[in-house]
Amino acid sequence: MFRSLTIKNLAKNQIGLMRQPTNTRPVVRLVEENGVQGVVKEFSGNGFVYRNTIGRFLVWREGQAYQRLKGVKGIPVLFRKVDGLALVISKVPGKNLEHLSGEERPDLDFFQKLARLIQECHERGVAHCDLKRSANTMIDEFGRPYIVDWSAAITDREFCVYPLTATYKMFVEDDLKAVTKLKLHFCPESITDEERRKYAQMGRGECAIRAIRDFARKCLQKIA
Ligand SMILES: Nc1ncnc2c1ncn2[C@@H]1O[C@H](COP(=O)(O)OP(=O)(O)OP(=O)(O)O)[C@@H](O)[C@H]1O
Ligand SMILES: [Mg+2]
Repeated sequence: MFRSLTIKNLAKNQIGLMRQPTNTRPVVRLVEENGVQGVVKEFSGNGFVYRNTIGRFLVWREGQAYQRLKGVKGIPVLFRKVDGLALVISKVPGKNLEHLSGEERPDLDFFQKLARLIQECHERGVAHCDLKRSANTMIDEFGRPYIVDWSAAITDREFCVYPLTATYKMFVEDDLKAVTKLKLHFCPESITDEERRKYAQMGRGECAIRAIRDFARKCLQKIA
């Protein structure tokens, strides 16, 4: 699929621009071939050093995650990589949760399905690590969940030796806490006291996760 795409002709072949690039983020384009729509995340417009270091690394990481999650319903299909600088994945037929209008509120059933989807990814040995950003979760017209943006994902194989096993477990728990965070925003009435209590507890692990994320973000901005 999408074999004719090259880094040079990507912009010309897009049928829509889904998101402009920033200094640290890739451009997100909509493409189409033989009636199939794909989404391209592409770093070729970012600064030379950034795109050839972080950009290539993020494309490689995200590609690995999609390969490991192949066949999981609710996760885009990886069609191909273009020159190590872009990923072409299947288009999710829905909206990200950040783009929902005020009246559009995913219900409890959606969040139960989302939690099951996250667990299915964990069973494949992949933790997403950035699900607290609501823009990485999407919903279709039937209320089914999808998860995009696997560039920060980690795998159980990489974290298979103690104490890394404990770190991996922390990220797995953090993925599931993200569901509570989204529920607090979209349907707070469905949250049980137990969930509220668990969510309010911020252990040392969570502090560490935040510190790692903040540090990584600052580094990326410096390199860009
Ligand atoms: N496969 C897809 N199908 C439909 N829309 C998608 C798809 N992948 C990404 N998008 C849209 O593009 C947006 C940006 O994509 P993504 O989150 O992967 O980019 P990013 O630069 O890694 O993320 P961030 O903005 O979180 O740093 C998503 O929030 C979603 O709205
Ligand atoms: Mg994102």
